[in-house]
Amino acid sequence: MDAMELVGGRRLQGRVRASGAKNAALPIMAASILADGPMRLKNVPDLMDIRTMTRLLTALGVRVEREPDGDLILKCTSSRKSEAPYRIMKTMRAGICVLGPLVARRRKVRVSLPGGCAIGDRPVDLHLKGLRALGADLGIEHGYIVGDGKRLRGAEMYLGGPFGSTVTGTANILMAAVLAKGVTVIDCAACEPEVQDLCRVLLKMGAQIQGIGSPRLVIEGVDGLAGCEHAVIPDRIEAGTLLLAGAATGGDVTVEGARWSDLFALVHTLREAGAEVEHFDDTIRVRSRRRLKSVDVTTLPFPGFPTDLQAQMMATLTAADGISVVTEKIFPDRFMHVAELSRMGARIRKEGNAAVVHGAKRLSGAPVMASDLRASAALVIAGLIAQGKTNITRIYHLDRGYEKIELKLGRLGAKIRRYKES
Ligand code: EPU
Repeated sequence: MDAMELVGGRRLQGRVRASGAKNAALPIMAASILADGPMRLKNVPDLMDIRTMTRLLTALGVRVEREPDGDLILKCTSSRKSEAPYRIMKTMRAGICVLGPLVARRRKVRVSLPGGCAIGDRPVDLHLKGLRALGADLGIEHGYIVGDGKRLRGAEMYLGGPFGSTVTGTANILMAAVLAKGVTVIDCAACEPEVQDLCRVLLKMGAQIQGIGSPRLVIEGVDGLAGCEHAVIPDRIEAGTLLLAGAATGGDVTVEGARWSDLFALVHTLREAGAEVEHFDDTIRVRSRRRLKSVDVTTLPFPGFPTDLQAQMMATLTAADGISVVTEKIFPDRFMHVAELSRMGARIRKEGNAAVVHGAKRLSGAPVMASDLRASAALVIAGLIAQGKTNITRIYHLDRGYEKIELKLGRLGAKIRRYKES
């Protein structure tokens, strides 16, 4: 198994580019099930989750090929395969994104409920509520969502849950509603940039969608959808992680593929913490000459502060002056990183869905273990600022969402290397 070693204490400096967004690419790949022609996707990162989605789509009769130039070509055969097996679904929750397209296109479905997750409960009740409102007859049997549908009909629905909107739930309903007969209205739809990108792909395929980027989506069903070509948006979470690494190390880092419109919650938070942040077309530069100040952060659905940057923000705040309160309103148990950061000397007290971070004491490098994707990214930031050596094991979690992270950080001046655990 791969592990990572970091020697902390270096200021990061330079320019780096964020890859394509994993969480945009995954549902867009699933949309290939809806297309009558081939899809050509550009800017799809080469990551474990993308390979898992490729396996899942292949099992569902989609031919997926990576061309030498990096483009991903997806061609749906006329297959009637409609089983998303547990052996694949258990490794990646985003596999649930095939549910909407399968219900709309193949009608008969057998989709395994996704596996457990380190960041807390992740039910799919809202996905089922929305699809049932469209007329899908779905039940749960032996860990599988099963259904034997007919043509779906447009409906009005409210997709808000106890923690706000649902990202992949909105994606699933959208991908079913585009082929339903009549008009569908989704209220409390997720507004995340990744959902907007999926909408843009569906438009290119011939779908009719209004209200993109707002919490009310109005979809008028069409009879069929064509293939299309699309460049996936850059990964705002990877970009945000690199900006935080720059700010945490007192560095000067410019990230290309960092769009202000996707990242303003982070940018304002960093400014409040005393960093200088400038933004250009799709580039953001962060400079932090002085020690950062404490800030309070609350995660919320977009355009609020993203839960996927909460762990990395917390690692950054361990080096800030004062006390910060980090409140998690999307996944109230998403605090697996707290114990590992504490092993590195961070002073963090967990209180319900919040963590109180006493900053300023310098972390000390230690052997730590990655528990989930974003927690691993937090440990990388902690390793960059800590005194001495940090060894992170189980970095396959990191590899699920960050393409060539050690090369990118290395180019910015980090002392970082990947090695095989003996
Ligand atoms: N929820 C329900 N019922 C549902 C669906 C969700 O109660 O049917 C709750 C969840 O338990 C959670 C909240 O609603 O409390 C939001 O969950 P959401 O459905 O939006 O999450 P998701 O679609 O499963 C996506 C990202 C996550 C990201 C969240 C929130 C993908 C593939 N995954 O998950 O990304 O944290 O939205 O923004 O898009 C990551 O990349 O590390 C990651 C976990």
